[in-house]
Amino acid sequence: MDEKRDFQSGTVAADLRHVWHPYTQAETAPVPVEIVSGKGARLYAADGREFLDLISSWWVNVHGHAHPLIAAAISEQAAKLEHVIFADFTHRPAAALAARLAALAPQGLTRVFYSDNGSTAVEAALKLAVQYWRNRGAPERNRFVAFEGGYHGDTVGAMSVGAGCGFFAPYADLMFETALVPFPETWDGDNAAEEKEKAALAAAEQYFDKEGARTAALVIEPLVQGAGGMRMCSPGYLRRLAELARAAGVLLISDEVMTGFGRTGEMFASQTAGIAPDMMCLSKGLTGGFLPLGATLCTEEIFDAFRGENFGRAFAHGHSYSANPLGCAAALASLDLFEAGVWRERSAAIHARHRDFLLSLAGHDKVCRTRLTGTIAAFDIAGEKGYGAAVGAALKSAFLDRGLLLRPLGNVVYVMPPYCIEDADLDRGYAGIRDALNGLKD
Ligand SMILES: Cc1ncc(COP(=O)(O)O)c(C=O)c1O
Repeated sequence: MDEKRDFQSGTVAADLRHVWHPYTQAETAPVPVEIVSGKGARLYAADGREFLDLISSWWVNVHGHAHPLIAAAISEQAAKLEHVIFADFTHRPAAALAARLAALAPQGLTRVFYSDNGSTAVEAALKLAVQYWRNRGAPERNRFVAFEGGYHGDTVGAMSVGAGCGFFAPYADLMFETALVPFPETWDGDNAAEEKEKAALAAAEQYFDKEGARTAALVIEPLVQGAGGMRMCSPGYLRRLAELARAAGVLLISDEVMTGFGRTGEMFASQTAGIAPDMMCLSKGLTGGFLPLGATLCTEEIFDAFRGENFGRAFAHGHSYSANPLGCAAALASLDLFEAGVWRERSAAIHARHRDFLLSLAGHDKVCRTRLTGTIAAFDIAGEKGYGAAVGAALKSAFLDRGLLLRPLGNVVYVMPPYCIEDADLDRGYAGIRDALNGLKD
Protein backbone atom coordinates (compact mmCIF):
# COMPACT_ATOMS: atom_id res chain seq x y z
CA MET A 1 0.00 0.00 0.00
CA ASP A 2 2.74 2.45 0.98
CA GLU A 3 4.62 1.55 -2.16
CA LYS A 4 1.55 2.39 -4.22
CA ARG A 5 1.33 5.76 -2.49
CA ASP A 6 4.96 6.67 -3.03
CA PHE A 7 4.62 6.63 -6.80
CA GLN A 8 1.53 8.81 -7.01
CA SER A 9 0.91 12.50 -6.83
CA GLY A 10 -2.08 14.86 -6.79
CA THR A 11 -5.54 13.34 -6.78
CA VAL A 12 -4.51 9.72 -6.65
CA ALA A 13 -2.00 10.32 -3.85
CA ALA A 14 -4.65 12.11 -1.77
CA ASP A 15 -7.09 9.31 -2.56
CA LEU A 16 -4.67 6.58 -1.50
CA ARG A 17 -3.92 8.48 1.69
CA HIS A 18 -7.46 9.41 2.74
CA VAL A 19 -10.25 7.69 0.80
CA TRP A 20 -12.00 4.42 1.69
CA HIS A 21 -13.56 2.94 -1.46
CA PRO A 22 -16.78 0.87 -1.58
CA TYR A 23 -16.63 -2.91 -2.02
CA THR A 24 -12.83 -2.72 -2.23
CA GLN A 25 -10.02 -4.59 -0.48
CA ALA A 26 -7.54 -1.72 -0.16
CA GLU A 27 -4.62 -4.07 0.37
CA THR A 28 -4.92 -5.81 -2.99
CA ALA A 29 -6.88 -3.30 -5.11
CA PRO A 30 -5.16 -1.68 -8.07
CA VAL A 31 -4.47 2.06 -7.91
CA PRO A 32 -7.78 3.77 -8.77
CA VAL A 33 -8.09 5.37 -12.20
CA GLU A 34 -8.63 9.12 -12.03
CA ILE A 35 -11.48 10.09 -14.35
CA VAL A 36 -11.71 13.73 -15.32
CA SER A 37 -14.62 13.85 -17.76
CA GLY A 38 -17.21 11.85 -19.61
CA LYS A 39 -19.27 12.12 -22.76
CA GLY A 40 -21.83 9.66 -24.09
CA ALA A 41 -20.66 6.17 -23.19
CA ARG A 42 -17.04 7.25 -22.81
CA LEU A 43 -14.98 8.21 -19.78
CA TYR A 44 -11.69 10.10 -20.02
CA ALA A 45 -8.84 9.57 -17.55
CA ALA A 46 -6.31 12.11 -16.28
CA ASP A 47 -3.47 10.15 -17.90
CA GLY A 48 -5.07 10.35 -21.35
CA ARG A 49 -6.67 6.89 -21.39
CA GLU A 50 -10.23 6.46 -22.58
CA PHE A 51 -12.74 3.90 -21.31
CA LEU A 52 -15.99 2.68 -22.77
CA ASP A 53 -18.52 2.49 -19.94
CA LEU A 54 -20.26 -0.83 -20.59
CA ILE A 55 -21.82 -1.06 -17.13
CA SER A 56 -23.38 2.41 -16.94
CA SER A 57 -21.14 3.24 -13.95
CA TRP A 58 -22.73 0.78 -11.49
CA TRP A 59 -25.96 0.79 -13.46
CA VAL A 60 -26.88 4.44 -12.90
CA ASN A 61 -26.24 6.10 -16.25
CA VAL A 62 -28.94 5.86 -18.90
CA HIS A 63 -28.52 8.69 -21.46
CA GLY A 64 -24.74 9.11 -21.38
CA HIS A 65 -22.21 10.93 -19.20
CA ALA A 66 -22.45 14.68 -18.62
CA HIS A 67 -25.57 14.91 -20.80
CA PRO A 68 -25.94 18.63 -21.49
CA LEU A 69 -29.73 18.76 -20.94
CA ILE A 70 -29.52 17.17 -17.51
CA ALA A 71 -26.46 19.25 -16.58
CA ALA A 72 -28.33 22.42 -17.59
CA ALA A 73 -31.46 21.43 -15.61
CA ILE A 74 -29.36 20.93 -12.47
CA SER A 75 -27.51 24.18 -12.97
CA GLU A 76 -30.74 26.13 -13.50
CA GLN A 77 -32.32 24.60 -10.42
CA ALA A 78 -29.20 25.23 -8.30
CA ALA A 79 -29.35 28.92 -9.12
CA LYS A 80 -32.98 29.04 -7.88
CA LEU A 81 -33.28 26.66 -4.95
CA GLU A 82 -30.70 24.09 -3.94
CA HIS A 83 -32.65 22.49 -1.11
CA VAL A 84 -35.46 22.96 1.36
CA ILE A 85 -36.73 20.82 4.24
CA PHE A 86 -39.36 18.48 2.81
CA ALA A 87 -41.61 18.26 5.89
CA ASP A 88 -44.25 21.05 5.74
CA PHE A 89 -42.70 22.36 2.49
CA THR A 90 -42.79 21.29 -1.12
CA HIS A 91 -41.38 22.48 -4.44
CA ARG A 92 -42.17 22.16 -8.12
CA PRO A 93 -39.48 19.59 -9.07
CA ALA A 94 -40.61 17.14 -6.35
CA ALA A 95 -44.34 17.49 -7.05
CA ALA A 96 -43.90 17.38 -10.83
CA LEU A 97 -41.60 14.36 -10.62
CA ALA A 98 -44.03 12.47 -8.36
CA ALA A 99 -46.86 13.11 -10.83
CA ARG A 100 -44.74 11.94 -13.77
CA LEU A 101 -43.51 8.82 -11.99
CA ALA A 102 -47.10 7.96 -11.04
CA ALA A 103 -48.13 8.29 -14.69
CA LEU A 104 -45.29 6.04 -15.89
CA ALA A 105 -45.41 3.43 -13.14
CA PRO A 106 -47.44 0.21 -13.12
CA GLN A 107 -51.08 0.98 -12.46
CA GLY A 108 -52.06 2.01 -8.95
CA LEU A 109 -48.66 3.27 -7.77
CA THR A 110 -49.75 6.85 -7.26
CA ARG A 111 -47.85 7.93 -4.12
CA VAL A 112 -44.16 8.73 -4.01
CA PHE A 113 -42.02 8.72 -0.86
CA TYR A 114 -38.60 10.25 -1.53
CA SER A 115 -35.28 9.20 -0.01
CA ASP A 116 -31.60 9.27 -0.97
CA ASN A 117 -30.54 6.08 -2.74
CA GLY A 118 -31.50 2.52 -3.56
CA SER A 119 -30.94 1.10 -0.09
CA THR A 120 -33.06 3.80 1.55
CA ALA A 121 -35.81 3.31 -1.05
CA VAL A 122 -35.91 -0.36 0.00
CA GLU A 123 -35.58 0.45 3.70
CA ALA A 124 -38.60 2.78 3.45
CA ALA A 125 -40.63 0.09 1.65
CA LEU A 126 -39.89 -2.45 4.39
CA LYS A 127 -40.90 -0.07 7.17
CA LEU A 128 -44.00 1.01 5.25
CA ALA A 129 -45.05 -2.63 4.83
CA VAL A 130 -44.71 -3.46 8.51
CA GLN A 131 -46.47 -0.30 9.68
CA TYR A 132 -49.19 -0.68 7.05
CA TRP A 133 -50.23 -3.97 8.63
CA ARG A 134 -49.85 -2.61 12.16
CA ASN A 135 -52.04 0.39 11.31
CA ARG A 136 -54.59 -1.98 9.82
CA GLY A 137 -54.75 -4.03 13.03
CA ALA A 138 -52.60 -6.96 11.83
CA PRO A 139 -49.28 -6.46 13.67
CA GLU A 140 -48.54 -10.19 13.35
CA ARG A 141 -47.76 -9.59 9.67
CA ASN A 142 -44.20 -8.51 10.37
CA ARG A 143 -41.98 -10.91 8.42
CA PHE A 144 -40.59 -10.80 4.92
CA VAL A 145 -40.00 -13.36 2.25
CA ALA A 146 -37.47 -12.77 -0.53
CA PHE A 147 -35.51 -14.61 -3.20
CA GLU A 148 -32.43 -16.73 -2.71
CA GLY A 149 -29.57 -14.81 -4.32
CA GLY A 150 -31.36 -11.44 -4.08
CA TYR A 151 -29.62 -8.14 -3.31
CA HIS A 152 -31.42 -5.03 -2.09
CA GLY A 153 -28.74 -2.72 -0.69
CA ASP A 154 -26.37 -2.37 2.23
CA THR A 155 -28.42 -0.85 5.07
CA VAL A 156 -29.52 -3.31 7.74
CA GLY A 157 -33.10 -3.88 6.56
CA ALA A 158 -32.02 -4.12 2.93
CA MET A 159 -29.24 -6.56 3.90
CA SER A 160 -31.77 -8.66 5.83
CA VAL A 161 -34.04 -9.17 2.82
CA GLY A 162 -30.92 -9.59 0.66
CA ALA A 163 -29.41 -12.21 2.95
CA GLY A 164 -29.45 -14.64 0.04
CA CYS A 165 -26.74 -12.81 -1.93
CA GLY A 166 -23.98 -13.95 0.41
CA PHE A 167 -22.14 -10.63 0.95
CA PHE A 168 -23.19 -10.02 4.52
CA ALA A 169 -21.73 -12.73 6.76
CA PRO A 170 -19.96 -10.23 9.13
CA TYR A 171 -23.26 -8.50 9.87
CA ALA A 172 -25.41 -11.58 10.44
CA ASP A 173 -25.99 -10.63 14.09
CA LEU A 174 -27.53 -7.33 13.04
CA MET A 175 -29.92 -8.70 10.45
CA PHE A 176 -33.52 -9.78 11.03
CA GLU A 177 -34.58 -13.20 9.85
CA THR A 178 -36.06 -13.33 6.37
CA ALA A 179 -37.49 -16.40 4.68
CA LEU A 180 -35.97 -17.16 1.28
CA VAL A 181 -37.68 -18.90 -1.63
CA PRO A 182 -35.85 -20.29 -4.66
CA PHE A 183 -35.17 -18.10 -7.69
CA PRO A 184 -35.52 -20.28 -10.81
CA GLU A 185 -32.65 -18.76 -12.76
CA THR A 186 -32.56 -19.67 -16.41
CA TRP A 187 -30.42 -19.13 -19.50
CA ASP A 188 -30.34 -19.79 -23.24
CA GLY A 189 -31.01 -23.42 -24.05
CA ASP A 190 -31.86 -24.31 -20.44
CA ASN A 191 -33.80 -27.60 -20.67
CA ALA A 192 -34.67 -27.65 -16.99
CA ALA A 193 -36.37 -24.22 -16.88
CA GLU A 194 -39.89 -25.53 -16.51
CA GLU A 195 -38.93 -28.04 -13.86
CA LYS A 196 -37.10 -25.36 -11.81
CA GLU A 197 -40.06 -22.99 -12.02
CA LYS A 198 -42.42 -25.71 -10.87
CA ALA A 199 -40.21 -26.53 -7.89
CA ALA A 200 -39.78 -22.84 -7.03
CA LEU A 201 -43.54 -22.24 -7.18
CA ALA A 202 -44.17 -25.29 -5.02
CA ALA A 203 -41.70 -23.99 -2.42
CA ALA A 204 -43.34 -20.53 -2.49
CA GLU A 205 -46.79 -22.07 -2.16
CA GLN A 206 -45.64 -24.11 0.80
CA TYR A 207 -44.18 -20.98 2.40
CA PHE A 208 -47.37 -18.96 1.90
CA ASP A 209 -49.53 -21.82 3.24
CA LYS A 210 -47.50 -21.95 6.41
CA GLU A 211 -46.38 -18.34 6.96
CA GLY A 212 -48.55 -16.20 4.65
CA ALA A 213 -50.70 -14.84 7.47
CA ARG A 214 -47.58 -13.65 9.34
CA THR A 215 -45.91 -12.13 6.29
CA ALA A 216 -45.92 -8.43 5.53
CA ALA A 217 -44.44 -8.55 2.04
CA LEU A 218 -42.63 -10.48 -0.65
CA VAL A 219 -39.57 -8.52 -1.83
CA ILE A 220 -38.23 -9.22 -5.32
CA GLU A 221 -35.85 -7.98 -7.96
CA PRO A 222 -38.10 -8.50 -10.98
CA LEU A 223 -36.72 -10.55 -13.93
CA VAL A 224 -33.02 -9.90 -13.20
CA GLN A 225 -31.08 -10.29 -9.96
CA GLY A 226 -28.24 -7.80 -10.35
CA ALA A 227 -25.51 -8.06 -7.73
CA GLY A 228 -26.39 -11.72 -7.14
CA GLY A 229 -24.88 -12.49 -10.56
CA MET A 230 -27.20 -11.14 -13.29
CA ARG A 231 -29.44 -14.14 -12.77
CA MET A 232 -32.59 -14.05 -14.87
CA CYS A 233 -36.03 -15.65 -14.57
CA SER A 234 -39.07 -15.83 -16.84
CA PRO A 235 -41.94 -13.31 -16.76
CA GLY A 236 -44.46 -16.17 -16.54
CA TYR A 237 -42.86 -17.39 -13.32
CA LEU A 238 -43.05 -13.94 -11.74
CA ARG A 239 -46.71 -13.60 -12.68
CA ARG A 240 -47.56 -16.89 -11.00
CA LEU A 241 -45.52 -16.02 -7.93
CA ALA A 242 -47.27 -12.62 -7.69
CA GLU A 243 -50.64 -14.41 -7.82
CA LEU A 244 -49.60 -16.66 -4.92
CA ALA A 245 -48.55 -13.63 -2.85
CA ARG A 246 -51.80 -11.84 -3.64
CA ALA A 247 -53.87 -14.91 -2.68
CA ALA A 248 -52.04 -15.00 0.67
CA GLY A 249 -52.79 -11.29 1.24
CA VAL A 250 -49.04 -10.53 1.17
CA LEU A 251 -47.84 -7.21 -0.27
CA LEU A 252 -45.51 -7.31 -3.27
CA ILE A 253 -42.48 -5.01 -3.20
CA SER A 254 -40.74 -4.73 -6.55
CA ASP A 255 -37.18 -3.50 -6.12
CA GLU A 256 -36.50 -1.82 -9.46
CA VAL A 257 -33.42 0.05 -8.33
CA MET A 258 -31.45 -1.77 -11.03
CA THR A 259 -34.15 -2.89 -13.48
CA GLY A 260 -36.01 0.45 -13.58
CA PHE A 261 -35.78 3.01 -16.35
CA GLY A 262 -35.82 0.75 -19.35
CA ARG A 263 -33.21 -1.91 -18.61
CA THR A 264 -35.56 -4.82 -19.35
CA GLY A 265 -37.24 -3.30 -22.42
CA GLU A 266 -40.22 -1.55 -20.84
CA MET A 267 -39.84 1.42 -18.52
CA PHE A 268 -40.10 -0.88 -15.51
CA ALA A 269 -39.47 -4.63 -15.26
CA SER A 270 -42.81 -5.06 -13.46
CA GLN A 271 -44.40 -3.94 -16.74
CA THR A 272 -42.18 -6.21 -18.83
CA ALA A 273 -43.17 -9.09 -16.55
CA GLY A 274 -46.86 -8.12 -16.30
CA ILE A 275 -47.04 -7.90 -12.51
CA ALA A 276 -48.76 -5.24 -10.39
CA PRO A 277 -46.67 -4.54 -7.28
CA ASP A 278 -48.02 -2.72 -4.21
CA MET A 279 -44.71 -0.87 -3.86
CA MET A 280 -41.83 -0.15 -6.21
CA CYS A 281 -38.34 1.05 -5.23
CA LEU A 282 -36.42 3.33 -7.58
CA SER A 283 -33.01 5.00 -7.62
CA LYS A 284 -29.91 4.65 -9.89
CA GLY A 285 -31.32 5.63 -13.34
CA LEU A 286 -33.92 7.90 -11.72
CA THR A 287 -31.72 10.99 -12.11
CA GLY A 288 -30.14 9.77 -15.34
CA GLY A 289 -27.13 8.84 -13.23
CA PHE A 290 -26.34 12.39 -12.09
CA LEU A 291 -27.36 12.63 -8.43
CA PRO A 292 -28.36 10.33 -5.60
CA LEU A 293 -32.12 10.13 -5.16
CA GLY A 294 -34.46 7.35 -4.07
CA ALA A 295 -38.19 6.93 -4.47
CA THR A 296 -40.59 4.39 -3.01
CA LEU A 297 -43.87 4.32 -4.90
CA CYS A 298 -46.96 2.83 -3.31
CA THR A 299 -50.70 2.52 -3.75
CA GLU A 300 -53.27 4.93 -2.39
CA GLU A 301 -54.54 2.10 -0.19
CA ILE A 302 -51.17 1.94 1.58
CA PHE A 303 -50.99 5.73 1.88
CA ASP A 304 -54.51 5.85 3.34
CA ALA A 305 -53.62 3.36 6.06
CA PHE A 306 -51.23 5.97 7.50
CA ARG A 307 -53.86 8.71 7.73
CA GLY A 308 -55.34 9.46 11.14
CA GLU A 309 -55.66 12.02 13.86
CA ASN A 310 -52.49 11.13 15.73
CA PHE A 311 -48.83 11.01 14.75
CA GLY A 312 -48.62 7.38 15.84
CA ARG A 313 -50.19 6.29 12.54
CA ALA A 314 -47.88 8.48 10.46
CA PHE A 315 -44.70 7.25 8.78
CA ALA A 316 -41.91 8.39 11.12
CA HIS A 317 -39.19 8.29 8.49
CA GLY A 318 -37.35 10.92 6.48
CA HIS A 319 -33.92 12.10 5.40
CA SER A 320 -32.31 15.54 5.49
CA TYR A 321 -32.05 15.50 1.71
CA SER A 322 -35.46 13.92 0.99
CA ALA A 323 -36.69 15.11 -2.42
CA ASN A 324 -33.61 17.25 -3.01
CA PRO A 325 -34.62 19.76 -5.73
CA LEU A 326 -31.41 19.23 -7.72
CA GLY A 327 -31.97 15.48 -7.86
CA CYS A 328 -35.63 15.99 -8.79
CA ALA A 329 -34.67 18.49 -11.53
CA ALA A 330 -32.16 15.99 -12.92
CA ALA A 331 -34.84 13.27 -12.84
CA LEU A 332 -37.34 15.50 -14.69
CA ALA A 333 -34.77 16.24 -17.40
CA SER A 334 -33.96 12.53 -17.65
CA LEU A 335 -37.68 11.73 -18.06
CA ASP A 336 -37.86 14.39 -20.82
CA LEU A 337 -35.14 12.47 -22.63
CA PHE A 338 -37.01 9.18 -22.10
CA GLU A 339 -40.16 10.79 -23.44
CA ALA A 340 -38.35 11.92 -26.58
CA GLY A 341 -38.33 8.18 -27.24
CA VAL A 342 -34.94 7.61 -28.92
CA TRP A 343 -34.00 5.22 -26.10
CA ARG A 344 -36.61 2.71 -27.28
CA GLU A 345 -35.01 2.38 -30.70
CA ARG A 346 -31.55 2.23 -29.16
CA SER A 347 -32.68 -0.27 -26.56
CA ALA A 348 -34.10 -2.57 -29.27
CA ALA A 349 -30.90 -2.21 -31.32
CA ILE A 350 -28.69 -2.96 -28.29
CA HIS A 351 -30.84 -6.00 -27.47
CA ALA A 352 -30.47 -7.34 -31.03
CA ARG A 353 -26.70 -6.75 -31.05
CA HIS A 354 -26.33 -8.37 -27.62
CA ARG A 355 -28.21 -11.40 -28.98
CA ASP A 356 -25.82 -11.76 -31.93
CA PHE A 357 -22.84 -11.37 -29.62
CA LEU A 358 -24.08 -14.04 -27.23
CA LEU A 359 -24.81 -16.37 -30.16
CA SER A 360 -21.27 -15.84 -31.40
CA LEU A 361 -19.97 -17.01 -28.00
CA ALA A 362 -22.03 -20.19 -28.08
CA GLY A 363 -19.17 -22.56 -28.83
CA HIS A 364 -16.55 -20.82 -26.68
CA ASP A 365 -15.00 -23.29 -24.25
CA LYS A 366 -14.84 -20.71 -21.43
CA VAL A 367 -18.43 -19.47 -21.79
CA CYS A 368 -21.65 -20.97 -20.47
CA ARG A 369 -25.19 -19.92 -19.52
CA THR A 370 -25.52 -16.98 -21.92
CA ARG A 371 -28.61 -14.93 -21.07
CA LEU A 372 -30.29 -11.72 -22.14
CA THR A 373 -33.10 -9.50 -20.83
CA GLY A 374 -33.65 -6.12 -22.47
CA THR A 375 -30.25 -4.42 -22.67
CA ILE A 376 -28.63 -6.64 -20.03
CA ALA A 377 -26.48 -9.42 -21.51
CA ALA A 378 -24.63 -11.86 -19.27
CA PHE A 379 -22.77 -15.16 -19.27
CA ASP A 380 -20.77 -17.28 -16.85
CA ILE A 381 -17.15 -18.26 -17.15
CA ALA A 382 -16.94 -22.01 -16.73
CA GLY A 383 -14.98 -23.20 -13.68
CA GLU A 384 -14.80 -21.55 -10.26
CA LYS A 385 -18.13 -19.94 -9.36
CA GLY A 386 -19.12 -17.03 -7.15
CA TYR A 387 -18.20 -13.39 -6.43
CA GLY A 388 -14.74 -14.37 -5.18
CA ALA A 389 -13.80 -16.31 -8.34
CA ALA A 390 -10.26 -15.26 -9.34
CA VAL A 391 -11.19 -15.09 -13.01
CA GLY A 392 -13.30 -11.98 -12.26
CA ALA A 393 -10.31 -9.90 -11.13
CA ALA A 394 -8.17 -11.17 -14.01
CA LEU A 395 -10.83 -10.29 -16.57
CA LYS A 396 -11.53 -6.88 -15.03
CA SER A 397 -7.91 -5.94 -15.46
CA ALA A 398 -7.79 -7.41 -19.00
CA PHE A 399 -10.86 -5.35 -19.91
CA LEU A 400 -9.35 -2.14 -18.53
CA ASP A 401 -6.20 -2.81 -20.57
CA ARG A 402 -8.47 -2.85 -23.62
CA GLY A 403 -10.19 0.42 -22.68
CA LEU A 404 -13.37 -1.25 -21.42
CA LEU A 405 -15.07 -0.52 -18.11
CA LEU A 406 -16.55 -3.89 -17.23
CA ARG A 407 -16.63 -5.35 -13.71
CA PRO A 408 -17.41 -9.05 -13.71
CA LEU A 409 -19.36 -10.26 -10.68
CA GLY A 410 -16.87 -13.04 -9.92
CA ASN A 411 -17.25 -15.50 -12.77
CA VAL A 412 -20.19 -13.62 -14.28
CA VAL A 413 -19.47 -11.21 -17.14
CA TYR A 414 -22.24 -8.80 -18.07
CA VAL A 415 -22.79 -5.81 -20.32
CA MET A 416 -25.32 -3.10 -19.43
CA PRO A 417 -24.48 0.04 -21.39
CA PRO A 418 -26.19 3.42 -21.40
CA TYR A 419 -28.78 3.62 -24.22
CA CYS A 420 -26.77 6.27 -26.05
CA ILE A 421 -23.95 3.85 -26.87
CA GLU A 422 -23.18 3.71 -30.59
CA ASP A 423 -23.13 0.48 -32.58
CA ALA A 424 -19.43 0.84 -33.38
CA ASP A 425 -18.61 1.21 -29.69
CA LEU A 426 -20.70 -1.82 -28.80
CA ASP A 427 -18.84 -3.83 -31.43
CA ARG A 428 -15.53 -2.62 -30.03
CA GLY A 429 -16.72 -3.76 -26.60
CA TYR A 430 -17.72 -7.21 -27.84
CA ALA A 431 -14.39 -7.61 -29.68
CA GLY A 432 -12.50 -6.63 -26.51
CA ILE A 433 -14.47 -9.13 -24.43
CA ARG A 434 -13.80 -11.92 -26.93
CA ASP A 435 -10.12 -11.03 -27.03
CA ALA A 436 -9.86 -11.02 -23.22
CA LEU A 437 -11.65 -14.38 -23.05
CA ASN A 438 -9.26 -15.85 -25.59
CA GLY A 439 -6.39 -14.65 -23.41
CA LEU A 440 -7.62 -16.62 -20.38
CA LYS A 441 -5.33 -19.47 -19.44
CA ASP A 442 -6.75 -23.00 -19.21
C1 LIG B 1 -31.76 -4.18 -6.85
C2 LIG B 1 -31.00 -3.22 -6.00
N1 LIG B 1 -31.59 -2.72 -4.91
C3 LIG B 1 -30.97 -1.83 -4.11
C4 LIG B 1 -29.68 -1.42 -4.38
C5 LIG B 1 -28.99 -0.45 -3.47
O1 LIG B 1 -28.85 0.78 -4.10
P1 LIG B 1 -27.78 1.84 -3.56
O2 LIG B 1 -26.45 1.30 -3.92
O3 LIG B 1 -28.12 3.10 -4.29
O4 LIG B 1 -27.99 1.96 -2.09
C6 LIG B 1 -29.02 -1.93 -5.51
C7 LIG B 1 -27.64 -1.52 -5.82
O5 LIG B 1 -26.96 -2.08 -6.61
C8 LIG B 1 -29.70 -2.85 -6.34
O6 LIG B 1 -29.12 -3.38 -7.42
